[in-house]
Amino acid sequence: MSASGRAASRTAVLVCQGRAAADGTTAAGRFTDPVAVRLLRAAERVPVDEVRAGSVPQGWQARVAYESVRACAEVVVPRTIAIDEALRTHSTGQLVILGAGLDTRAWRLPGLAGTDVWEVDHPASQQDKRARLADAVPLLRGPGEDAADSVEAAAVARSLRFTPVDFAVDDLGAALAAAGHDPSAPTTWLWEGVVPYLTRDEVRATVAALAARTAPGSTLVVNYQAPSPRATAGRRLARLLGSSVTSGEPWRSLWKPPRMAALLASYGLEVVSDDDLLTLAHALGGPVERRSSLRSGRVAVAESRRG
Ligand SMILES: C[S@@+](CC[C@H](N)C(=O)[O-])C[C@H]1O[C@@H](n2cnc3c(N)ncnc32)[C@H](O)[C@@H]1O
Repeated sequence: MSASGRAASRTAVLVCQGRAAADGTTAAGRFTDPVAVRLLRAAERVPVDEVRAGSVPQGWQARVAYESVRACAEVVVPRTIAIDEALRTHSTGQLVILGAGLDTRAWRLPGLAGTDVWEVDHPASQQDKRARLADAVPLLRGPGEDAADSVEAAAVARSLRFTPVDFAVDDLGAALAAAGHDPSAPTTWLWEGVVPYLTRDEVRATVAALAARTAPGSTLVVNYQAPSPRATAGRRLARLLGSSVTSGEPWRSLWKPPRMAALLASYGLEVVSDDDLLTLAHALGGPVERRSSLRSGRVAVAESRRG
């Protein structure tokens, strides 16, 4: 629990469990995240191992945890592939990950070797991640590499800075300035799995703050949820069935693609692609079960047009 009284994000753990469950078992050759499992506590690994083995547990609670991880894995695979690809094609010297949660890119994407990374997150979630990372340091380097002596040194990114920010109350721009982000150089902004948890006003304020530090040649990669009665009902059902993960983190804003595009355009960011995860999942082949969650989840790429 942080000083603000808010606990570390549990949905961040669920997404990490989904990536750990999918690593090496789903979309082989396109998706991999060997770092995710290293950030999980022992109890959190149990449903991950069950999903990987396809062994459905007995008991209500264990079954709910299993289904949550399985469902999450199906959604995060196309989402991660799409985002990693966007980061490759829009790489700059600066990557700011907004609402980073247990994101592993700074430790797993070799393409970030020439990039300075800022991980921005709610203070409670960031504190939790840093504790997990500290425990995982000896495991963060690949086979044959010397163990790193710090979380930052273990990263493949050129540099890594943790920047605690509560989007609801803190000044994102001031926090990034204090952490050494250069607004005159291009930045790649990544905002994955966070927009639904913010109010419309908080989303607007965050876009305004990042746009103020966006030089020409910058890109925003944003994952958001479009309105979907079925996906919203699915979350409600999961809560009723006893999943406590989503109960403390309700969805606060869903965006139709034209409204998201209009918001970004009003801050000089032009959407150049905006795909739903269902289309991306179909393109990967393999079975697709979570149609409504996949159809309403989207990844948009917007480029800075201000010169
Ligand atoms: C579902 S997790 C996604 C984490 C990560 N981006 C990923 O996709 O794995 C949601 C993240 O949003 C962050 N978040 C939610 N509300 C926030 C706020 N008001 N300020 C800062 N971060 C917030 C949480 O701390 C959490 O890390």
